[in-house]
Amino acid sequence: MIQKLKYMNDIVDDSATKYNYIVNLASEVAKNYGFKYINTPIIEMTSLFKRSVGESSDIVNKEMYNFTDKGDRDICMRPEGTAGVVRHFVESKKDRQQPSKFKYFYFGKMYRYERGQKGRYREFNQFGCESFGEPSVLEDFMIIEMISTIFDKLNIKYALEINSIGCDSCMPVYKDNLVKFLEPKKDALCQDCQRRLLQNPMRVLDCKNSSCQEQIANAPKITNNLCESCDSDFKQLVELLDNSGIEYNINTNLVRGLDYYNKTAFEFVSKEIGSQGAIAGGGRYDKLVEFLDGKSTPAVGFAMGIERLMMLIDIPKESRDGYYLGALDANALSKILEASKKIRINSKAYVEYGAKNLKGHLKNADRFNAKYCAVIGEEELQNGTIWVKNLEDKSQDVIDFNEFIKSIG
Ligand code: HAM
Repeated sequence: MIQKLKYMNDIVDDSATKYNYIVNLASEVAKNYGFKYINTPIIEMTSLFKRSVGESSDIVNKEMYNFTDKGDRDICMRPEGTAGVVRHFVESKKDRQQPSKFKYFYFGKMYRYERGQKGRYREFNQFGCESFGEPSVLEDFMIIEMISTIFDKLNIKYALEINSIGCDSCMPVYKDNLVKFLEPKKDALCQDCQRRLLQNPMRVLDCKNSSCQEQIANAPKITNNLCESCDSDFKQLVELLDNSGIEYNINTNLVRGLDYYNKTAFEFVSKEIGSQGAIAGGGRYDKLVEFLDGKSTPAVGFAMGIERLMMLIDIPKESRDGYYLGALDANALSKILEASKKIRINSKAYVEYGAKNLKGHLKNADRFNAKYCAVIGEEELQNGTIWVKNLEDKSQDVIDFNEFIKSIG
């Protein structure tokens, strides 16, 4: 038997219901916030992710599903959605339009060759939003507010962590200070952090290794080293959150695992799903459009992990819906098919092809969660009628077949 690949999931039955519920709900909220749907390819040039997510990130370093295609191109199954949306934004010259304000939402499969565990898969789904052209920190706030609205609607509890990681003018100075602080402690850092110290020292701050955590306990804090513009934006974000009643923690070690961020960085975390508790993450990435050869455009966005949200929600039981149609006698099948064709123009019909007794049909109708069970037997055939039971209020009736067809039209 051929099995699915490790750490990849079939989304089916209850999980399919949850998936659709989350995607539909999040899409409606995103539309209310002015976002429009975008669907970019799952496969892109590998260089897109190297340049955006960054060569020093774990994603590009160790986790990419990249390969050479038949045209000898180095291509990659997308590890995240932002890069593709930015690629589209630049390629379609939206960066050249005035005003260059565009907001997109997307959902779909992402691929990371990770060490799998509960909540961490190699193929997983994200719902995300990207907003272009808005430099105001109000947009960062709006996005955080939108995510909290989605989680409230899904009845998901979360802790929100925020940070500012500075900009081109203050981040490099902070990085130098951090390297000076960490250099003497280098030997006590894990292998990965020793590499990070050279390539991307701020990533050492969010290493989960306990020895690294000990070493960074007294490290300089980025929020004490921000330039005036980053500092005032961050203070405004904090004020907006305070006024809105959205609870948050300032986590000065939150730097995010992708290299394109500047200024605001945030993560929503759930305590109810084990070690892989990050349910959404995002931030500002004002340099990425330029980095991908576009005209400098500020941007901010986020993505949430749909599988992790699926672990956190209960779907209300669906109410009974549609008709179950069955024949008591094989001769009645053609009438059943006539009725099902009519019903399916506007609503749901489940058709049983085999003739059964009434008890069997009622059991089936219940299994399909149908609202009505309608059957035709020899007697109904002779009288030109159909027997219909409402499985909600348990009422039943024998109706003229033509009247029945008219009533469902
Ligand atoms: P990210 O933090 O890498 O950000 O991923 C966002 C969310 O995707 C995570 O919070 C988590 O819920 C989910 N996720 C990530 N990896 C896995 C995995 N292996 N298995 C299951 N779920 C996972 C980004 O991807 C950025 N593109 C977000 C963004 C958009 N920033 C700005 N715009």
